[in-house]
Amino acid sequence: MKVSALTPALLGLVASVQAASSIEYSTVSGYFLQDETATDPSTFDYTAVNFGLINRTYPADQKLKHNGKDLTQWERFYNQVQELNKKAGKDVEYKVLFLGRHGEGYHNAAESFYGTPAWNCYWAELDGNSTATWSDAALTPNGVNQALIAHDFWQKEIKEQRIHTPDNYYVSPLTRTLQTANYTFTGLQLPHGSAPFKPVIKELLRESISIHTCDHRHSKTYIKDLFPSWRIEDGFAENDQLWNGVTEETSAAQDIRSTTVLGEIFFSSSGKDDTFVSVTSHSGEIGSILDVVGHRTFSLNTGAVIPVLVKAEKVETNARAVVTSATWTVNPHCTVPPVTSVSACVCPSSAAPVTTPLVTGF
Ligand SMILES: *[C@@H]1O[C@H](CO)[C@@H](O)[C@H](O)[C@H]1NC(C)=O
Ligand SMILES: *[C@@H]1O[C@H](CO)[C@@H](O)[C@H](O)[C@H]1NC(C)=O
Ligand SMILES: *[C@@H]1O[C@H](CO)[C@@H](O)[C@H](O)[C@H]1NC(C)=O
Repeated sequence: MKVSALTPALLGLVASVQAASSIEYSTVSGYFLQDETATDPSTFDYTAVNFGLINRTYPADQKLKHNGKDLTQWERFYNQVQELNKKAGKDVEYKVLFLGRHGEGYHNAAESFYGTPAWNCYWAELDGNSTATWSDAALTPNGVNQALIAHDFWQKEIKEQRIHTPDNYYVSPLTRTLQTANYTFTGLQLPHGSAPFKPVIKELLRESISIHTCDHRHSKTYIKDLFPSWRIEDGFAENDQLWNGVTEETSAAQDIRSTTVLGEIFFSSSGKDDTFVSVTSHSGEIGSILDVVGHRTFSLNTGAVIPVLVKAEKVETNARAVVTSATWTVNPHCTVPPVTSVSACVCPSSAAPVTTPLVTGF
């Protein structure tokens, strides 16, 4: 039976994400190549072009000594963002988000190995196979290497561009993002006076929550043992409250979640002084954040980083008009390996699609 032909039943289940924010986000373009329609995301290499920062002058250059001609592009850009913040009222805040996708995980390798249709409708619902584990997948050696490329690139930018390094570091609680942030930022020689690498682990920065076991996080205790000195945000549950192996977050529900987490990052107590912010997350979640801040679609390869200049503005809203929840859907899957010779998933006739989990998880 063809799984893709089944209409997913709408469940009355509501995303457990609430607070709507009355903050409006927009991407300020004209600064990064990634904002330009002429830039092809599939071939873009952030390490080859100074993170994508466009060579140009800024209005704020005029106030600098010699119009800032002794400064690097990144130094002048930082000054420009500071100036935008200074000129803006108290209800407007500009931040540069460095959105980093984790390096290749075992689930990425397995999806390539089995092919996407078979991966989605069977293999991804298992913890792994006899030789690889992909529930809350760890980085493959290639994935570690991609994070080390990001590390070396940051170090080069610190040395050559005297780039302002992040004032805050936020990380998704999944193992692959924790590892990626660690390999990227541990051991960097940061500029004098910059914020130390003390990441905060945030639940809502996790990947799109599907029935795949790679979206199921480990316990808080496990994460604490892995990175004892990192801060886990207040209210973080011991066990995963969002993944259940049956229902999936829709993109509407995910955008609500992304709006909520952005509301925790913008207008925080540190305010406008925290201008550069690192966020280590996932392709689906970064896609959702880009969507919420009005950036064009820009898919990142594993291990890639995209900087985005975001303007956040507090606005008066009619509370009743704000959408605060969206339903999740069920997604049927096979109970044995599918027939994989077609583009859509087909379960063998002996295995009617079900919505019950194949594994109980940790
Ligand atoms: C910016 O200018 C430098 C030389 O000053 C050049 O090496 C670099 O490729 C230019 N970058 C972009 C993105 O055009
Ligand atoms: C398990 O999956 C991995 C892909 O992640 C693949 O390389 C390996 O060959 C698979 N093992 C078996 C026994 O099929
Ligand atoms: C964190 O990164 C450091 C530096 O690359 C490495 O030595 C260490 O093994 C990493 N820790 C974990 C738990 O991955």
